[in-house]
Amino acid sequence: MFNQQTLKQVVTEKIGDELLVVVSNREPYIHRFHEGKVVVDKPASGLVTAMDPMLRATEGIWVAHGAGKADKKVVDANDCVRVPPDNPKYTLKRVWLTKQEERGYYYGFSNEALWPLCHIVYARPQFDLHNWEMYRQVNQKFADAVLAEIGDKPAFIWVQDYQLALVAGMLKEKRPDLRVAQFWHIPWPNPEVFRICPWKKEILLGLLGNDLLGFHIKFHCDNFLNTVAQNLEVRVDYERSSIFHHSGVETRVRPFPISVDFDEIAEDAKKDYSDDETVEDVLHTLPEKYETIAIGVDRFDYTKGIPERLRAVDRLLEKHPEMIEKFLLIQVGALSRIHIPLYKKLNDEINALVEEINWKYATDSWAPIMLVRRNTVYPQILHFYRMADTCVVSSLHDGMNLVAKEFISSRNDDDGVLILSQFTGAGRELEGGALLVNPYNVEELADAFYEASTMSKKEQKRRMSAMRDIVKEHNIYKWGTDFISELANIS
Ligand code: F6P
Repeated sequence: MFNQQTLKQVVTEKIGDELLVVVSNREPYIHRFHEGKVVVDKPASGLVTAMDPMLRATEGIWVAHGAGKADKKVVDANDCVRVPPDNPKYTLKRVWLTKQEERGYYYGFSNEALWPLCHIVYARPQFDLHNWEMYRQVNQKFADAVLAEIGDKPAFIWVQDYQLALVAGMLKEKRPDLRVAQFWHIPWPNPEVFRICPWKKEILLGLLGNDLLGFHIKFHCDNFLNTVAQNLEVRVDYERSSIFHHSGVETRVRPFPISVDFDEIAEDAKKDYSDDETVEDVLHTLPEKYETIAIGVDRFDYTKGIPERLRAVDRLLEKHPEMIEKFLLIQVGALSRIHIPLYKKLNDEINALVEEINWKYATDSWAPIMLVRRNTVYPQILHFYRMADTCVVSSLHDGMNLVAKEFISSRNDDDGVLILSQFTGAGRELEGGALLVNPYNVEELADAFYEASTMSKKEQKRRMSAMRDIVKEHNIYKWGTDFISELANIS
């Protein structure tokens, strides 16, 4: 079984004296002011959910954008702070961005161009030269921060995600001796989709700075190999799943399905969170009548299929009026990436749909959808997972989706049904236990709500225990161990 200790062992064995440096846009702990005091939040992010336990086990350095209003207050002269705040295990080094950089690099190129390009949910990518220039400039800033931090020491640099596609190439330019790897947390599209990007060659060349490049599933690895083959003059070796370039330098491309800390979640799920302010608020506002609860937990993002899920509730109640005053969907989540028009539009759409569907079916003591518009964080979120009969993940496209795995890990009772989009990475691992759906098919999603709400306890237990076995074995430490072991094979 993989755990913190086994991962630590592998890191010591394989990485030895080299420094382990993780680089990402999103930081794992955000400091902000609240009533005159500095408080800490953990952001809602699959990347943070996965990487924080990894760093706690390996005690490396995490370089990330300092986005919190009080972030500067707590760092030392080197822009570093020890985290987690209550039990420090590793160093967080913060990179500061100007408003202009944040707009161009994060909102602009990362989330208005690359995000829709990679997810293919029919949101048109916006390509803007100024945003691209900011993206390059900020990637350089991250690379420089890493180089300053490691000095001339040997190091293993582990870059995260699509916001930092150029960092590996920039690092290798200055320090070809470094071992650099990257994990891409979102899907990689097919070459026909990627070819429209005006800076596709620069992005691909940047990524080839990595010795190892990881995606969640083989399908995304194959898409990447094909994209490179169609756009660059390099040798793609499909059998080895490698790309050879710059006179023989190799970039290995491998699947590593990311996961969660199953044991920690299962342990935390035994605790009582009913005193928490958000939990209390929600419990007080539950309708008088309901028998079965479905829960959705998402950042409000147009890739998550939230409107589709709401329409499916409407269809469920049309088809099965007997579910009136029985079925309740609690949708938890907060608006993200607020400065992007599509996200504002999504927010309006969700509001309008909830209002309309609730108005259509509400009785004096019940309405079918409860919107908990809050960034409800771990571990309090476990209370909602535990009180649900069903968890719904209806992403239109998702690299992995860790909400599904968190829900499973929290169900020590072996009860509860997972409705899961077939277009998530998680869908490939959990197909034997989850009710797999095509979220574009509202009819199918409505039927899945019905099936989940009426499923026998025996069948629930059969499915849930099968999924728990998978997530328990394929936990975040296995993911980390596999990734580091693969990298260690590279001389
Ligand atoms: O997992 C994909 C991802 O984009 C991460 O890179 C990111 O941390 C997370 O979703 C949340 O998005 P953001 O950091 O833009 O709030």
